[in-house]
Amino acid sequence: MRDLNKKPSFQSVFAPGKFESQLMNGDHTPTPMVDDEGKELIDPFCIKDQPQKITFQDITSAAFKIKSGIIKTPCVKSRLLNTGMDIYLKKDFVQVTGSFKERGARYALLQLADEQKRIGVISASLGNHALALCYHGQELQIPVTVVMPVVAPIMKIAACRQYGANVIVDGMDMGEAKRIALKQAKEKGLIYINGYDHPHIMAGQGTLGLEIIEQVPDIDAVVVPVGGGGLIAGVALAVKTLRPNCMIIGVESERCPSYHAAREAGKPTYTSIQSTLSDGLAVPMVGYNAFATADPLIDKMVVVKEEWIAIAILKLIENEKCIVEGAGATGLAAILAGQLDELKGKRVVLLLCGGNIDTTVLGRCLERGLAAEGRLLKFTVTVSDRPGGIAELCTTLASIGVSIKDIIHERAWIMSDIFSVDVKVVCETRDRQHAEQLKNLLHQNYHRVVFGSEDSFTLSPIANSNSEKK
Ligand SMILES: Cc1ncc(COP(=O)(O)O)c(C=O)c1O
Repeated sequence: MRDLNKKPSFQSVFAPGKFESQLMNGDHTPTPMVDDEGKELIDPFCIKDQPQKITFQDITSAAFKIKSGIIKTPCVKSRLLNTGMDIYLKKDFVQVTGSFKERGARYALLQLADEQKRIGVISASLGNHALALCYHGQELQIPVTVVMPVVAPIMKIAACRQYGANVIVDGMDMGEAKRIALKQAKEKGLIYINGYDHPHIMAGQGTLGLEIIEQVPDIDAVVVPVGGGGLIAGVALAVKTLRPNCMIIGVESERCPSYHAAREAGKPTYTSIQSTLSDGLAVPMVGYNAFATADPLIDKMVVVKEEWIAIAILKLIENEKCIVEGAGATGLAAILAGQLDELKGKRVVLLLCGGNIDTTVLGRCLERGLAAEGRLLKFTVTVSDRPGGIAELCTTLASIGVSIKDIIHERAWIMSDIFSVDVKVVCETRDRQHAEQLKNLLHQNYHRVVFGSEDSFTLSPIANSNSEKK
C-alpha cells in the first residue's frame, strides 16, 4: 500500500463546464467533479487509473489497532427454519453507532499522522459512515467535519452533532455534498475519508472477516451486502486468505446494482439508482480501490428485489429479535428469494451489518413484508345493504380466524344495485395458506370480490360451488 500518511497532493486539472452532480456524459463516464473555478477536485486516495489493493497484513494491522475501541460482535446460529442451510448471523449492527462502519472509520483515524490528527478529517455521507467517523473522532479527539446532503435523515444529522462533529448540511445529493467536502479538504488541509474506497477504511472493514473465521468453524460461504464495495473488499480478502474455499457472495438491491454494472463493464461505472429500502447500498459507482481488491475474490453477485428485503427485515425481527436496516437484510433476502439455493446443506454466514432504520420506514417495511407474505390482505367485496349484511361478512371472516384491521363501506358510488354496498377490508391472516382459505371462502360466499389492487371485479373461480352466494 502507498504511504497514506503523506499529505494529500490535490491535483488541480482544468475542467471546463459547470459542476453537474452525479450526471453522466454521453459515453456514460461521470462528469468530473470541479470547484467554483472549474478545477477538478480529486480524492488522492481513490484515483481511477491507479487503484490500490489492500493486503492481508493491512487487515491484521487494523484488527490489532482498533481492538480496544470496537465491539467484537456475536456471530450466532440462526433460528430461521426451512432455509435448508446452517445459517450464522454476524451481528455488527450492535456497534455503538449501529453499523460495521466504525471499524474502518476508527482505523482510518488512528492511521493519521500526528499533525493531521490535530487538523482533522472530512467526509461526505448520508448516514452510517458519518456517524462512525463523528463518534470515533470524538473518542480519539480528532476534529471531524461531515457534509451531509439536505436529504440526509434528521435523526442522523442530530446524532452526528451530538458527537461534537462539525456537521455541514449542504448539497442536494451525495454528489454535491462530496464536491463541497473535497473543496473544503483542499482549502483547509483536511484529509478526505471516502467511506468505502479509502484503503484504511477497507482494511478496517476486513476485521469483520477475521472475526467470522475465528467465531464459526468450517464456513462454506459468506454473504456480504455491497454498496461502494469497501465491506466486501475487506471481508473477502480476510476470509479467502484464511479459508480459500469459502465462497464470497455479494448482494445488492435491484434498485442500485452498481457492482453488477461494474462487473459487466470490467471497471467501476456509473449506474442510475433509485430510492431503496437498502439506502446504505445506494452508491451509483463502486470504488476503484474496492473493485480492484474485491473483484478477483468474489464468487457470485446477486441482485435482490425490494419486496424480499422487506420480508427479510420482518423475519429478522420475528425470528431473531434483530432490528436490521434494509442493507443489512439483503443477504437473508437473497436466501428467502431462492437465489442462493446452491448453499443448501452448507454453513453460511450472513452479515447483519447495520441497524439504523428509520422508525417510520421500519413500520412501512413490516407492513410491506406482511403484505408480500400474504399475511396482510386487502380486498373489496360487495355485500347486501340490508341490516346484517356487514355483520354476516364479519362472521364469515371470524369463522376462519381472520382478524380485521380496517373496514370501510361505501354506498354512494355503487351503480349496479341499490341494495348493495361495497365493503373495503384490510385484514390479517396467519400465512399464505390461511390467505388462500380466506380467498376461497369469500369467492364461495360473494359474487363480487377484488383482492389487492386488481381494478376489476373477479368472479368466483369455484363456479359450480353449491354454497349460496350473497
Ligand atoms: C448497513 C450497511 N451495509 C452495507 C453497506 C455497504 O458497504 P460498502 O459501501 O462498503 O459496500 C453499507 C454502506 O454504507 C451500510 O451502511
